[in-house]
Amino acid sequence: MNILLLGSGGREHAFAWKIQQSKRCSQLFIAPGNEGTSECGKNINIGVNDFEAIKRFSIENNIEMIIVGPEEPLVKGIYDYFESYKASSEGGSWGGLLIAPSAIGAQLEGSKAFSKKFMQRNNIPTAAYAEFTKENYDEGKTYIQQHSLPVVLKADGLAAGKGVVIATTTEDALKAFEEMIIHEQFGEASSKVVIEEYLDGIELSVFVLTDGKDYKIIGHAKDYKRIGVGDTGLNTGGMGCVSPLPFLTDDFLQKIEKEIIQPTIDGLQKENIIYNGFIFFGLIKVDDEPFVIEYNCRMGDPETEVVIPRLKNDLIDLFLSVHNNTLKDKVIEFDERACATIVAVSKGYPGDYEKNKLIEFDDSSIRQFDDSIVFHAGTKMNEAGQVVTNGGRVLTVSSFGREIADGVRLSKEVLNCIYFDGMYFRSDIGYEFEAPNP
Ligand code: AMP
Ligand code: GLY
Repeated sequence: MNILLLGSGGREHAFAWKIQQSKRCSQLFIAPGNEGTSECGKNINIGVNDFEAIKRFSIENNIEMIIVGPEEPLVKGIYDYFESYKASSEGGSWGGLLIAPSAIGAQLEGSKAFSKKFMQRNNIPTAAYAEFTKENYDEGKTYIQQHSLPVVLKADGLAAGKGVVIATTTEDALKAFEEMIIHEQFGEASSKVVIEEYLDGIELSVFVLTDGKDYKIIGHAKDYKRIGVGDTGLNTGGMGCVSPLPFLTDDFLQKIEKEIIQPTIDGLQKENIIYNGFIFFGLIKVDDEPFVIEYNCRMGDPETEVVIPRLKNDLIDLFLSVHNNTLKDKVIEFDERACATIVAVSKGYPGDYEKNKLIEFDDSSIRQFDDSIVFHAGTKMNEAGQVVTNGGRVLTVSSFGREIADGVRLSKEVLNCIYFDGMYFRSDIGYEFEAPNP
C-alpha cells in the first residue's frame, strides 16, 4: 500500500525506517521529512498542517494510510477533516485510513484542563489541581498563596513544550501566573492555567496503540529533558532516552495498566471519543504508586527512537489491526536488548541557534556499528548537495546493547564519528543505569 507519513523529526525518521521494512508498504512518502527520511521514502514539500494539500496529494497518489507524527495537526483536527471529506459527496472514492485520534481525543494533549477533567471523571490518579482564567484571576492568586511548594503551573494549550513552570517560591509562582494570564505569554494557550500539586518521584513514559476499545503497550522509556549533564539547565524537547527501564517490574506495569491505561481506554469508549492512534502516558512513580503527569496524543521524540527499534512487529500490520478490529489479537514482540538514544543538538539550543552547518559523517566508521542507527531530525540537503543542520535537535544515535550502559557507550562512539560546528550532546544519558564496576 501507499503510505504518507507526516512530520520531519527524529520520530518520523524512526517511523520511516520501520515502515520501509513492512511487507505491506509499496511506496512511502514523507511530508515534509528530513534528509534521513529521504533514504526511506520520498519526501514531499507539504506542511503538516496544510490539510488541503495533504488531501490533494493523497488522492492523486492513491495513499491508503496516513500516519500523523506531531501533535499540531492532530489537535487541529486532521482526523475529523478527512472523515468529513470521506463522508462528503466528492470524498466517496477515497478510502484512506488515518492513524490519528479525533480532534476531541487529541484534546488529551491539546488542553491540560480537558485532560485533568477526563482523569477526574474516570478516577485516574493524577496531581490535585484547579484551573483559572482572567475571570477568576484573583482567586488563582489566593490559591497560589495558600498552595504548598513547589507548585506547578501549566498553560492549558500547546506551548511547544514550554508551558510548564515548577515554582519553588510563591513569588515565582505568582509571577509565572501573571505572565501566562495577564501578559498572554503563550497567547490563547495560556488564557487558561492549570495549577497543580508537585509530585516527587521517578518519571517514565508508557506508549500505547489503541483503537479506542482495545490497546497494546508498544514500549516504554525514560527521557532526559534538560540540556545539561546531571539534569541541569533549560528544558528541551528531549536529549536522549533509554528503554527498557529496570525499575518497571511486571507488578508495577500491571498496576499502571489497571489504574491508568485501562480506565483511560474505558473513558474514551464511555465518552464516545474516536481514537485510532497512540497514547503517550507521561507518568511519575511516587513511592510505589503511578500518577499521570500528562497525556500526549502521539509518540514521543526521542522516545520513538528507542521504542520503535525494540518493536519487532510489522508496524503497518499493527496499524491495519487498529482499523479492522483485530488489535486485541496481536501479540507485541520486543527485541530483548536494551536501546539507548543520544541526541546531538545545535550550539545554543534550546535557545537561539544557527542552521546550515555542514554535517560530516565518517560513513566507513559508522557502518561498522551494526547495532546502531543514526536517525536524522533537523537536517536537510543544501543546494550543493551537502547535508546541513536545519534545526535545534539535529540527529540522534540509537544503539542496542545487552544493558542500557552498553547502548549508551555505542551511541557515544558513533557520535564521535559525526561532526558539525557547535555540535553538543549529553554525555550522561542513562546515568542511573550505569553498570556496576566489575
Ligand atoms: P508536561 O509538559 O506536562 O510533561 O510537564 C513537563 C515536565 O514538568 C514533566 O515532564 C515533569 O518533569 C514536570 N512536571 C509536570 N507536572 C508535574 C507535577 N505535577 N509534579 C512534578 N513535576 C511535574
Ligand atoms: N520527549 C517528549 C515529548 O515528545 O513530548
